[in-house]
Amino acid sequence: MKEQELQQLFDSMSLKEKAGQLFQLAGGMLADDTAMMGPMQDMGIEKEDIQLAGTVLGSMGAEKIREIQDAYMENHPHHIPLIFMLDIINGYKTIYPIPLAQGAAFSPKLTEACAAMAAREGAAAGLHVTFSPMVDLVRDPRWGRVMESTGEDVYLNGCMAEAMVKGYQGADLKGAETLAACVKHFAGYGGAEAGRDYNTVEVSERSFRDFYLPAYQKAIDAGSALVMTSFNTINGIPATVNRWLMRSVLREEMKFDGVLISDFGAIGETVCHGVAENRSDAARKGIEAGCDIDMMSGTYPENLEQLIEDGRLDIKLVEESAWRVLQLKNRLGLFENPYKGADQGKEREVCLCREHQELARKMAQESFVLLKNEEELLPLKKERKTAFIGPYVENKYMLGGWSFTGDPQDARTIREACGELKGYDITFHKGCPVLSSDVKLEGFGNYTQETVPAKQQEEMLSQAIEAAKAADEVVLFLGEHFLQSGEATSHGEIMIPRVQQELLDRIYEVNPEIAVVLFNGRPLDLRLVQKKAKAILEVWMPGTMGGAAIVDTLTGKAVPGGKVPMSFPYSVGQIPVHYDELPTGRTHLPGKDKDRFVSKYLDIPNKPSYPFGYGLSYTRFEISPVQLSGKTLHAGEHIEAEVVVKNIGDRAGTETVQLYLHDVSASVSRPVKQLKGFQKIVLEPQQETVVRFSITESMLTFLREDDTVGSEPGSFEVYIGSDSETKNKAVFELI
Ligand code: GLC
Repeated sequence: MKEQELQQLFDSMSLKEKAGQLFQLAGGMLADDTAMMGPMQDMGIEKEDIQLAGTVLGSMGAEKIREIQDAYMENHPHHIPLIFMLDIINGYKTIYPIPLAQGAAFSPKLTEACAAMAAREGAAAGLHVTFSPMVDLVRDPRWGRVMESTGEDVYLNGCMAEAMVKGYQGADLKGAETLAACVKHFAGYGGAEAGRDYNTVEVSERSFRDFYLPAYQKAIDAGSALVMTSFNTINGIPATVNRWLMRSVLREEMKFDGVLISDFGAIGETVCHGVAENRSDAARKGIEAGCDIDMMSGTYPENLEQLIEDGRLDIKLVEESAWRVLQLKNRLGLFENPYKGADQGKEREVCLCREHQELARKMAQESFVLLKNEEELLPLKKERKTAFIGPYVENKYMLGGWSFTGDPQDARTIREACGELKGYDITFHKGCPVLSSDVKLEGFGNYTQETVPAKQQEEMLSQAIEAAKAADEVVLFLGEHFLQSGEATSHGEIMIPRVQQELLDRIYEVNPEIAVVLFNGRPLDLRLVQKKAKAILEVWMPGTMGGAAIVDTLTGKAVPGGKVPMSFPYSVGQIPVHYDELPTGRTHLPGKDKDRFVSKYLDIPNKPSYPFGYGLSYTRFEISPVQLSGKTLHAGEHIEAEVVVKNIGDRAGTETVQLYLHDVSASVSRPVKQLKGFQKIVLEPQQETVVRFSITESMLTFLREDDTVGSEPGSFEVYIGSDSETKNKAVFELI
């Protein structure tokens, strides 16, 4: 629709009709009236409000969505179409690895392809918007939502945010295979104190701007059509009603002019935060902060008209928000085609098609991180008898906590995936359940947790022990339950479940030749696993094709090359631990323990078990000393930094060569290292190649003491290596 026509439509709408565009419904509330008796009734929402709503959360399926759209548009006074929104986080039907695993793959192109795949499936199923990418920087694995992020690094998160937005939105938001992206959660949600979900965020403005904001900016610069507010406070004010954050920072500084949607119920929750006196006050504050859509708090339909009639809210602000929602509908082409990509035939054709399954398999392969591999226990050798043991041997639930649109039954188990193997001698035993029955998974919808009677558990364990005894080596498939990470899953302890620790101990007693394959949504305290496993392969929550990808990797058909996107702490006591820390005035240099008065623990190391950027391969790489094309850099020029990388092993493999910079002295203390680039290279045995990075002044900017953004002259260290602990260094001067 032309802007002029849209304006005419807008001008013909009543205040009630305009305010209606700012209210989001749950899909079920439209399909039948019974929903009215449920949450809507409690939320004080009238049937008329439903008829005037602007968007829907939670409906899916081309046929259903077309039905809802037809019924809704027929009843709407201006026949304005609904926008259908849903959490498509790591796939719609073809579920690929969780975002944290995608971070580990260090492959923005592959992430972009996966997002495009999700958009193709989701759009055919009638969706218009996905609540993704989640770009919250994370440093605390007690927080279960780290699984939705791509990790602890500013630069990597930015690369992934941009890739996901481009993948979802493609070249044409009106297209039948694209979804509008909604970058979330704005802002700083990953900094929840003590890793407790929904908790307060205390962060200096400098850290907020240097670490937390850049990835949102990348998503906005890539064109994300929506932004979602976060539950947390920033400077003591809930983000959702934080005018500084939403109007000064997001809209003015970051130049976001799209639709801002609250997180689920977040506007109403400002009463609980103690910042709004009541729901009416909450609605007023939400609009004044520029929060356009009220996701499921009900405060907008309940209060906006009255607030305007009482003179407590400027009607222009409500109209501003309603106009943005109509503009989004226009950008999506819904006035011309309210169904967008909804097509039952296409839905059947694309969802879980072969091409999509192969892409999900490749993403999974590239996301796996080989953390340990003593005596080259992996890959498996055909001539050795191997016992596959553990609760994940025959478990389809490996899609991750945000994959409710997918079906675990579409996944093949490890055992099923082994069906294609020839010449391997493998036995399969579960050994124990994922969780013992005393561990409760709170409130996860219709998921029924498996319970195994004690007697049966003993039998499972003894059979597994016998199998381990009879084998040359054991692969233990262990990890978190898939619902133990995700929203509202904070943990004070971050080790593998106790029942699995016991399995590991008992198997180790009879056969120490153990490789562990680890399924988890967060970095874990792996001390127990490290002690008893000669090899550890991190597979995260690998998705529909995870079983096949894991078997590919265990047999060497695929070579692991993933890198840790978020530090694995030595223990919970070390949290928060991240590579890009500040040096402090008393840096602890390992090996110099006589220095008592330095920044260190007396009982645990400073360093995490596995640092950012770390990951092994089935082969080995040698990286030459850093060579610089010059010793000084002037603004507007660049310096080339290069190394020669050689595969000195006997297998082809992938290495992600990482570039870090350190500003040695500045007006504010700067991180000891910061990732500024990476290149993934595949090398055949004995093959070598030159890896070159271009360093420019723009890579050296930060929030300076005077609160301006820019660089400062002085010394800079350039590190190029295979992880964030590399010592391979050269120095240049910025003039
Ligand atoms: C949830 C999450 C958010 C999600 C939204 C809609 O509470 O915080 O990430 O997109 O509600 O499901």
